[in-house]
Amino acid sequence: MQILKEKEALKKKVRALKNDQKSIGFVPTMGALHEGHLSLIKQALSTCDKVVVSIFVNPTQFENQDDLQKYPRTLDEDVEQIKKISEEVIVFSPPASEMYGDTVSSEEFSFDGLEHQMEGRFRQGHFNGVGTIVKRLFEMVEPDKAFFGEKDYQQLQIIKKLVEKHGLDVEVIGCPIFRETSGLARSSRNERLSPKERQTAAFIYEILQQVKEEFGTKSAKEISTWVTEKFKSQPSLVLEYFEIANADDLVSIQEEDKSKKYRAFIAAYSGDIRLIDNIALN
Ligand code: PAJ
Repeated sequence: MQILKEKEALKKKVRALKNDQKSIGFVPTMGALHEGHLSLIKQALSTCDKVVVSIFVNPTQFENQDDLQKYPRTLDEDVEQIKKISEEVIVFSPPASEMYGDTVSSEEFSFDGLEHQMEGRFRQGHFNGVGTIVKRLFEMVEPDKAFFGEKDYQQLQIIKKLVEKHGLDVEVIGCPIFRETSGLARSSRNERLSPKERQTAAFIYEILQQVKEEFGTKSAKEISTWVTEKFKSQPSLVLEYFEIANADDLVSIQEEDKSKKYRAFIAAYSGDIRLIDNIALN
């Protein structure tokens, strides 16, 4: 398996693949890989000739320096996990200087309002950081297809918008959320929950499933009130937001229009661990 650290080495490899008419699949990650990430890599391997996985903890998308410092960096284990799936993957794991030079800062993006919804309200500057790094990675990897998890559904929509607005020649593919047996969406943050907290956190997906059942029979307002009440009965989880929004532009539902697709979104805290999840409603 090839592990590249320099962008020039990566670009050279990409040139060679393009010359050989190989299609390139790309899975950007920040490492600390788990089954959620691996499911994206498997999907990429099943549809592309060659797959590049980037492992880079991107400083500009963290609002909180403490979070950035504490983010797990487990390159050796990550490489071992990828090897178990395929020895053919190219891992790109650059130091920050390769991606940012001397100036570690974000570019400013407009994602036509997507950036002001949900996560954008609670994580200032986060999507400028994501947009900056993903655009740079796309320019280096020149993928035919790039794979993103629906776990971070707003990020997925933002990347599609980034591609559209900047005329980038890459197909962005959304992949299903990988869940633990309990239903809890797989996340590296789950490791920081106690066994009891981890069990309780499955409540988030239970609520989303019930919301899906009620959607169509109850109004969005009634459902929201019900969700808020339900969370009050579960004091070890603190609800940050619940939203039913249009699946394309992420604007909060006004009146249900059967021709449109909707999703429900939750962000909640278990202690100081922030968890997010979402579900398609129709
Ligand atoms: P990271 O959190 O490492 O996630 C990398 C990719 O894995 C994202 O597309 C994310 O949605 C997907 N993913 C995480 N958990 C998942 C799960 N349970 N099921 C399915 N997919 C899952 O997202 C980022 O990194 C960064 O913002 C990045 C795009 C790499 C830019 O720095």
